[in-house]
Amino acid sequence: MDVDLNKVTVRVPGTSANCGPGFDCLGLAATIYNDLELTLLEEKSLTIEAKGDGAETIPTDEKNIVWKAARMILERSGYAEKFQGAILKMTNHIPMSRGLGSSAAAIVAGLFAANEIVGKPFNRKEILKFATEIEGHPDNVAPAIYGGFTISTVDNRGQVQTFSFLPKLKLKLIVAVPDFPLSTRLARQVLPKTVMLKDAIFNVSRASMLIAALMQGKEKFLATAFDDALHQPYRTKLVPGMQEVFHAAKKAGAVGVALSGAGPCLIAFSPVDKHIENNIAVEMVQAFKKNEVQADALILDLDTRGAFVV
Ligand code: HSE
Repeated sequence: MDVDLNKVTVRVPGTSANCGPGFDCLGLAATIYNDLELTLLEEKSLTIEAKGDGAETIPTDEKNIVWKAARMILERSGYAEKFQGAILKMTNHIPMSRGLGSSAAAIVAGLFAANEIVGKPFNRKEILKFATEIEGHPDNVAPAIYGGFTISTVDNRGQVQTFSFLPKLKLKLIVAVPDFPLSTRLARQVLPKTVMLKDAIFNVSRASMLIAALMQGKEKFLATAFDDALHQPYRTKLVPGMQEVFHAAKKAGAVGVALSGAGPCLIAFSPVDKHIENNIAVEMVQAFKKNEVQADALILDLDTRGAFVV
């Protein structure tokens, strides 16, 4: 068998950050994936091929984020001289710029694949630190690396701590994906620089309730636990119909609803029941349509594994 030691394929899940009240610190991984086949080359030559969602918009030069992440590993492990070029083949299923962690998946894929080829000098925690440096916050990159739900903290030296867990109750993830992209930069620009203490308390109480209810499998405590006062109210204007879609999903049986990351995807948490899941999906798409937004619905599970070598 001909084994190419400089080549690896990795698969990275899409993610939904914030989960309502956990702005910039909570996240979850979902069963939708991007694949990256990375071949490192000694010669200075770069070939980037992409298939799937948003493939035509992906830079195919040095600006490519997957390659930048891979370069970071090569530089920090002392392999940047040896490997000056690469062939990247990407197959993307995660919708781009929709709030499902496509950029986090790209970063984690580049870091993870390059780390694997050069003999794994860095563990997951170090990869998380590098990914957070590039992305700016850990809430998408952490679940992309670890899977499940993740709670992350960053200290003032940039050290990241992530606690990942699987909830004690099973929930389906119904994601309504609008047909327009939303830049995270814009979705952060609409946020205030300071917040009221009562809004901070609102979120601390919901986020704490959310984690406790998920870990103990107490569905009845989820009813208010996905609510948020720190970012969603300000972002409502960026996603036409957001409140109506939330309302429709809850009416159809969702136990909680949230803006997925910085949006525009909206995520509903459903009991495991085909009828309810489908109903939520249909009602969310309909509610978007009433607001003149075309949307598709994805019915996903929690990914329990995070990034892995295929
Ligand atoms: N926590 C981030 C935000 C996620 O809501 O802006 C987007 O990357």
